[in-house]
Order: sequence, then C-alpha cells, then structure tokens
Amino acid sequence: MDGDEPATTGNEKAPLLEGSKGSKLIAFCRRHKRIVIPVGIMILLLPLLGLLALRNHHAHAMNWTSPLVYPSPQGYAIGNWSAAYEKAHAMVGNMSLEEMNNITLGVVDTTSGCVGVSGSAPRVGFPGLCLHDAGNGVRNTDGVNAYASGIHIGASWNASLAYERAQFMGAEFKRKGVNVALGPVVGPIGRIAEGGRFWEGFSADPYMDGILGAQSIIGLQESVIASVKHFVANEQETNRNPIANDGNPILSSSSNLDDETMHELYLWPFQDAIVAGAGCVMCSYNRINNTYGCENSKAINGLLKGELNFPGFVVSDWVAQHSGIESANAGLDMAMPTTGFWNELQLQKAVNSGALNRTRLVDMATRIIATFYQFGQDKALPNGVGMPANILLPHNYTDAKDPAAKSSLLQQALEGHVLVKNVNNALPLRKPKVLSIFGYDAIQQTSFVPNGNTFPQSWEAIGLGIQQSMGIASNAPVPDPPQTQNGTLVVGGGSGSNTPAYISTPYDAIAARAYDDGTGIFFDFVSTEPSVVSSSEACLVFINEFSSEVWDRAGLADADSDTVVNNVASACNNTIVVIHNAGIRLVDAWIDNPNVTAVIFAHLPGQDAGRAVAQILYGDVSPSGRLPYTVARQASDYGNLLSPCQADGSSSPQCVYTEGVNIDYRGFPARNITPRYEFGYGLTYSAFSYSDLHTSINATATPDGAVVPVYTNDTTNSNSNNTAIGVGGLLSLFESIGTITATIANTGPVAAAEVAQLYLQIPGGTSNTSNPRTRVLRGFEKVLIKPNETAEVSFNLRRKDVSTWNVTRQAWVVPSGEFGVYVGKSVLNTPLRTSFTI
Ligand code: BGC
Repeated sequence: MDGDEPATTGNEKAPLLEGSKGSKLIAFCRRHKRIVIPVGIMILLLPLLGLLALRNHHAHAMNWTSPLVYPSPQGYAIGNWSAAYEKAHAMVGNMSLEEMNNITLGVVDTTSGCVGVSGSAPRVGFPGLCLHDAGNGVRNTDGVNAYASGIHIGASWNASLAYERAQFMGAEFKRKGVNVALGPVVGPIGRIAEGGRFWEGFSADPYMDGILGAQSIIGLQESVIASVKHFVANEQETNRNPIANDGNPILSSSSNLDDETMHELYLWPFQDAIVAGAGCVMCSYNRINNTYGCENSKAINGLLKGELNFPGFVVSDWVAQHSGIESANAGLDMAMPTTGFWNELQLQKAVNSGALNRTRLVDMATRIIATFYQFGQDKALPNGVGMPANILLPHNYTDAKDPAAKSSLLQQALEGHVLVKNVNNALPLRKPKVLSIFGYDAIQQTSFVPNGNTFPQSWEAIGLGIQQSMGIASNAPVPDPPQTQNGTLVVGGGSGSNTPAYISTPYDAIAARAYDDGTGIFFDFVSTEPSVVSSSEACLVFINEFSSEVWDRAGLADADSDTVVNNVASACNNTIVVIHNAGIRLVDAWIDNPNVTAVIFAHLPGQDAGRAVAQILYGDVSPSGRLPYTVARQASDYGNLLSPCQADGSSSPQCVYTEGVNIDYRGFPARNITPRYEFGYGLTYSAFSYSDLHTSINATATPDGAVVPVYTNDTTNSNSNNTAIGVGGLLSLFESIGTITATIANTGPVAAAEVAQLYLQIPGGTSNTSNPRTRVLRGFEKVLIKPNETAEVSFNLRRKDVSTWNVTRQAWVVPSGEFGVYVGKSVLNTPLRTSFTI
C-alpha cells in the first residue's frame, strides 16, 4: 500500500533536492506513515502534556504547603532548666553579636575527630562544642565499644536495657571529649520497608520509639547532650539531599503529610524525647510539605518549640541548611558542619541591617549556652580530646571503655535475637557430636582498620564500585547497592555505624563450645552449594542483610543468600538459619521447607554477636526478642510502603503519605493482609499463659470547647505564661489515667522472658476515612519468669495514650466510646481481651 500513494499536487512547495537529508526524511515518513503520523501527533502533544503535567504537579505540590509560624519561640527558664537559663542569660548578656553569631555555626577543625565542632566564645568562657556520631556507639575512633544497634534494642523490648546501654555509651562519649552525641534516632520510624536507616531507630511503632528513645536520652544525658534525630518525617534515603544535576537541580524529597498523621505518628516519639529532657534536636534533610526541614517554621517554631515547648537547641543535619535568614527565623539555632549562610558574620550583619531580629540571634545563642550548662558541659574535657583526627597517626590512646559495660553489652546482644521458627526440638543444641557451619556471615570480615578516618563497616566497607561512590558524593541514587556484607554483620553502614573493640563471630563462639563438648565441626563459608557431611546433627547457616545510610535497600531479601539456605536444606534435614538483618528480611524463599527447622533474626548485636548467638543456640539463655516490625510473606504485601518514592523526572519529588498513620503493622489489617510474622512475634524455649486481665481507668472524654494553646503565626511566645505547659508540652497529656494488669505464668520447662504487650483499639475514625483506625501498641513489659512461676504485668496509661489529635481543635482529645483492650504476645496473638468505656 505504501507504494500506492498519489503523486504530489501542484500547490506543494518545491520539493527538496533528491537525495538530501530532507527528502530522505519525507520519503521515510511516507513509507512509514502509519507509525510516523501517531508518533508525530504525540510529539506535537508532548509540550501540551508537559504543561498539563506541570500544572498538575504544581497543583499537587500546592496542596501540600507548610504553614508559616513566627516568631520563633524564645527559650525560657522552665522546670529544671531554670539555673541553666540564668547562667546562659548572664553569659550571652556579655557576648557581642559577633560572638553570638560565631557559636551558631560549625567551624573547620583539623585537630580532633569530632564530626562537627561549633564556634567558641573564649572571652566569656564558652569553649565550643564537639558533636559526634551517633546512636549506637562512638563512631570512627579507637578505645570504644560497639553497642547493639537501635533495631536490636527495639527487638529487645526492654526499656531498662535501653537506659543502661545509653548510660555506658554516654560515658564513652564523655571520656572522648564529645559534648553532643548525635543520637538517638526516632525518625525514620520505618514507613518504608526498604528504608536504608530503619535499623538506626528502634521500632516501626511511635509509642515504642518514644519509650526506648526517652530512656536512651536519659541515659546519654547523664554524661553528654543527646541530639535526637531526624526531625521530622525523614523516612527515606532516596533523594534525601538536593542533587545538582547539571544545572537542573532536583530538590530533596518532600514528605507530604497531614496534621493528624504528623501528631499521631511522626511527632509522637519526639514528644517523648523532649519530655525526657533532650537537649538538642537535629532537623532533617527532607522537606516537610514542601519546605526544608531546617527552615520549616511550622515544624520547628510551631511544633517543636511551641507545642512541645522544647528548651534546648536545634542543630541542622550535616549540610541540611538551605537558607540564611529564613532558617534562623524558622528556628534553626546551629548550622553544621559549616555554613555558607551564617559565616562571615552574616547573622550579625543581618541584625545590624534590621533583616534579622536581634532577639532571634540572642535566643539562638541562649539556647545553645543554656543546654551547655544544663548538661554540665562547662565541666567537660577539652573538645574531642580523646579522639584524634586520624588514628593512623601517633596519638595518645584514650580508652573510653568501662569494664563494667561488658555484661551490659552481652545482655543487649542477647536480648535482640528473635526466634521465629523452632520445630522438631531443633534448638537448643545439646552437645552435638558433629555440626556443619555455612554462610559468609559466620566469620570475621577480612580486615578492620580505618582507611583514612573511615572504618570498613562504614560505606567503604562493602567495596562500593566507582559508580556507587560517585552516587554518594553527588547525592544521586546509588546504583545496585550491596545487600550483604562479607563477615558477621554487627552494625549497619553510614554515620550510625560504630567501632567495635573486637568482633566475636558465631564461628569463634561455636568453636569454643566444640572444644568443651567434643564436637566436630565442618564448615564452608564460601560456596553457595556446600557439601554436607551426613553425620552433621545440625547445619547452621549464617547470612545477613546489609543496610546503610545514603541509599534505600534494593530489596527485602537477596537471592544468593536464599540459594545457600535452600541448597543446605536440600542436603540437611536440620538446617538452622541465623540472619544478621539490618531491617526487615523476608524468608518465604525457604521458610516452609521442612528441613529448615529453626530461624533466628539476629539483627545487629554489636561486638558480642557471636558470644550472644552461641548462648542462645546452646540454650544457656532462652531467646527473648520480639519483632519490632512486620515480616510479610512477599514484598508486595507492603503495598506502596515497600519502596521509597522516586523523583520520576520531577525536580521536586513528592512523597504523599496517603496511608496516614497506618504504616507497618497498622497497615496490614487495614489492607486485610496476613503477615508471615507479625509485629511483636517471637518464640522462647518455654511457654506462657495469660490470665486475670484487670482495667482500672479513670478518664473523662475531653469536653467540647476546652481551651488549648494553639501555635499558629504570631501566637507562639505564650508558653511562659501558661502553667499547664512544661518541657514537652501540655503536662496533662502525661498524667496517668489508670492501669491495666494481667498475670503471666511460665508453663514451660525453662526460665525465659516473656514480652507482654498491650494494644488498644481507640474509638472513632481518622480524618482520612480510607485509613481506618487499627489497634495500636500502648504498653509493653518484659518479665523473666521461672518455670511454674507467675508474674504480674502492669501497664500504665498516660492521657496521651488514649487520645487522638483533633485537627480542627488543634488539640489532643480523649474520645468518648468503647476502647478495645488486647493483651498478649504479639499484635495478632492477644489471649486477653476486654474493653473500657470513656
Ligand atoms: C546524618 C546524621 C549524622 C551527620 C553527621 C548526616 O549525614 O544524616 O545522622 O549525624 O551526618 O555525621
């Protein structure tokens, strides 16, 4: 047909020369007009579609704007901060504007290993502050311990252990001359299953993050200032920072969320942190409703300094400051690690020109100095004294490790192991005659020395290629990020990584047992299809799941590790799998294989990894951890919360939190999906029964019209006149409204710890009707019980625990109606049920 086209008509323009590019093009078009015409139409329409997309994009972005809230509330002498503020006023009163400006910013310091050093004001006696990472132990130096990571402490469900860990950790920071420990992490909470930094925090539940975060802050602040981070809604690594992108910059992702979700989920643990007395808050890389975290006046002025009445100072995440006067007015107090916005006396000049209110600069300085006094940093060691810039060079070795921390380190490592499968009495091991040990995670990595000032278990550890390293440097997405690490994984990567004094590996610890028991061990840590000696009584397979700051994970399981498990299981009918997992790890590739008899999520135990897992495998102690997140059957069960949101060609990536408060375990019932292992799940070597549920609640529904403070534009500075408000906000939210008690009996053969959990079904809907309220964790208690003995658990409910955020009234209200009460072993296994009515 193409050849039957009519000849050109006379009114056509003169034909292009035969054989020219143009004529060839025309001939080509004629021949292929069925393809060319629609493609041509599409090309013509593209700009139109583009315009429409832009309009939609703007319309979309326009829906999510962050309100302006000014002025920035001034810190004042509240509660036990009175003396510190008095001293701060005296010192700042003596400072020049130049000195005030100087202490608000990071300076280049080549003498210490501190990741950030603030400016000083020596004339008035302020030496500046050393800020250093992070929440799992002192990073990148010698003479320190590697504590169990946040996720591991989450899996322990043990608040007093979180406190004890932080006490020892804080003392190490102090001995090294650190003033501000950059932790704990209560954001990310864990919205995204593949989120790269989920492991740095405790749990995918805000209540639990609040409780464990608060205990961590109290423990750390016996020695140093804690900087709770990352404020707020910092839930993914993808597009975490702006990308230059050849003159077409891509902004950081915007976390777009409504006010109810903000209060009931993302702000929740920060409030507990402030109530616990946190001296410092780190604002985050992401944008919140399209305004950067560190210049977000709603978040910092309105929520943090207004509603939560935070008396300390706000520090930027590293290079998270994107403006000068705007960030100062939005409530940022200190810019790290250096700044091009506040340096060269820009704040002083702005005050002099009237561009910045003097009271704001005074407040910035006052908050920093008050915090310095509040936590005794006026008596601290010289900045970074025990932490040289480069430990490869000669230096005075400062051993910050307290021998008394040893038992706590081991206890932390033990308590975060979660046993999820145990059939045919596979565990505990009983003096096996022959064991086989497989998997790259069973033994030590091949080297552990710094490369300059970075350690192997930081980003470089896992041998990133050039493309990947360039990705990190340019903030671009990291292609093909590694999913595993060769060697026992004891911590994740990035700034939350810590520095083990040693690494106890599973193989070493089991070999020591073999010596005692006369066991023979065969091993293969390399092959994906290892040979199995048939006399093996059990085959232990150690694999891991790596995760790091800077990128989100490429998946929730890696095929190579699954292959090792499947191959071993095909030859060994007692295959026991241990996973050191820095986040959710799916197991459905082999979990139903009857030859896989036991599975332990070993998380990130810190330096005593091997010692701890051996004690559990051999039954010296019963496993006592429970999952602080949900393990699905398949990745798609996480729905749109599986993977981070992408820029998808936009210069302004929009992450819309359509699920509201229903992340992780709250989302599964909302979507009617049964998980493989639910939140709160974990086995022990014993058995427990629950009885005697009692509720004693004395609360009334919040009456209409009750007056509450509102922190909108121009109303932010009224806290000091209001005695109902303390550090952390409305004091009444934290008053007890009653208790719920239950009795637990150990009906099994050995002593073991049970984690009793309280869930409430709070009446009423949410502002987003497609997100029904599902049951939420509101109490947990871990109790060690001997066989045939019982223990009573008692859950204290605070008013906030039975409240919901009312967007219209801008207040927490206690709803009236029937509250479902569920007490038991996990979110889905609650043998005790009742209700109370308010
Ligand atoms: C991280 C922070 C960390 C800081 C200093 C940033 O990239 O997001 O968590 O404290 O670096 O190392």
